[in-house]
Amino acid sequence: MSKIDWDSLGFDAYRTRTVVKSHFKDGAWSPVESTETFSFTLDPFAQVNHYAISCFEGLKAFTQKDGKVVIFRPEENARRMKRTADYLGMPCPSEEMFIKMCEDCIKGNLEFLPPYGHKASLYLRPLLFGVHPQMQLVPYPEAVFAVMCAPAGSYYGEHLRTFTAVIPGDFDRAAPHGSGSYKVGANYAATFRPYKMAHDQGYTELLFLNSGTREFVDEFGSSNFFGIKDNKYITPLSDSVLPSITNKSLQTVAEDLGMTVEKRPIPLDELDTFEEAGACGTAVVITPMARIDIKPVLGAEEVTRSFVFRPDNTVGPACNALYKRLTGIQFGEIEDTHGWCHKVDL
Ligand code: PLP
Ligand code: COI
Repeated sequence: MSKIDWDSLGFDAYRTRTVVKSHFKDGAWSPVESTETFSFTLDPFAQVNHYAISCFEGLKAFTQKDGKVVIFRPEENARRMKRTADYLGMPCPSEEMFIKMCEDCIKGNLEFLPPYGHKASLYLRPLLFGVHPQMQLVPYPEAVFAVMCAPAGSYYGEHLRTFTAVIPGDFDRAAPHGSGSYKVGANYAATFRPYKMAHDQGYTELLFLNSGTREFVDEFGSSNFFGIKDNKYITPLSDSVLPSITNKSLQTVAEDLGMTVEKRPIPLDELDTFEEAGACGTAVVITPMARIDIKPVLGAEEVTRSFVFRPDNTVGPACNALYKRLTGIQFGEIEDTHGWCHKVDL
């Protein structure tokens, strides 16, 4: 294996060594298997192939300043996967099994765990997919749960700099009363084409409004939205956004920094009033936005409105402080007073 350049890692499906997996069938999970075979065998009629019965999680393991290895809030991801699995009518591993398999995945891929000092982590991808062969549209208690991982640096290619986003007038992410707040793979399928169109026009992110009335800000395709004004951290309250663990953590961090936190619907017009705005999530960490445009038709030229937060493209003071504190806790540079870092015994 060639040596990994820890400082230039992006966010890619890196081919690591071990995948950890278990199969739920006949009412029980099979003994957990650590395998170096990087493939799954599926029945052509498997639920996942036809009906997208699949969900996933994303969480990170860090090597801290003192050499400890920790996973950031894994119990939150375990609970969120259970919520999504229930939505899809799937069996789901217990919190204990979820965390143990994440730990086993780290242990089976230690050479890919970035050392301290490179702003990099080991991204863990727990995946749950329905494998029962069927045609009927009914749940069936059979699934594979697997945890894979990849060394990860910056999602957008650079840490903590501003990017631009576009609000597409002709694409929605999730239906009202639909799957928006669950981490189902199908939610992401709906964003591939608009992402390509946005990227081709120089935008990094897609910001979606609430699909019914399109009056409120929901979230980015990859992450939650937050805005900053008057020393307040403001983030959408919506049934259609994924309950982000990073966002939940940032709300606490913002309070620790003396900010007021508001979780409420954010009318589109309010974007004009924010001093800073950004995306937050495990992959994107905190990504400040310099500008967000509205395009009624994503593929056409016309921009009907632009919200400019950082005219000079600099990172604002609040985003900077939030980023420093969150990543400081993750890397063990700042005391973990909230008990978020789960130590892995190697
Ligand atoms: N929103 C969406 C659509 C996501 O895919 C993610 C990533 O997981 C998030 C928000 C952020 O969630 P978290 O902070 O738990 O990673
Ligand atoms: C994560 O942040 O863990 C995600 O799952 C985002 C990914 C869909 C880009």
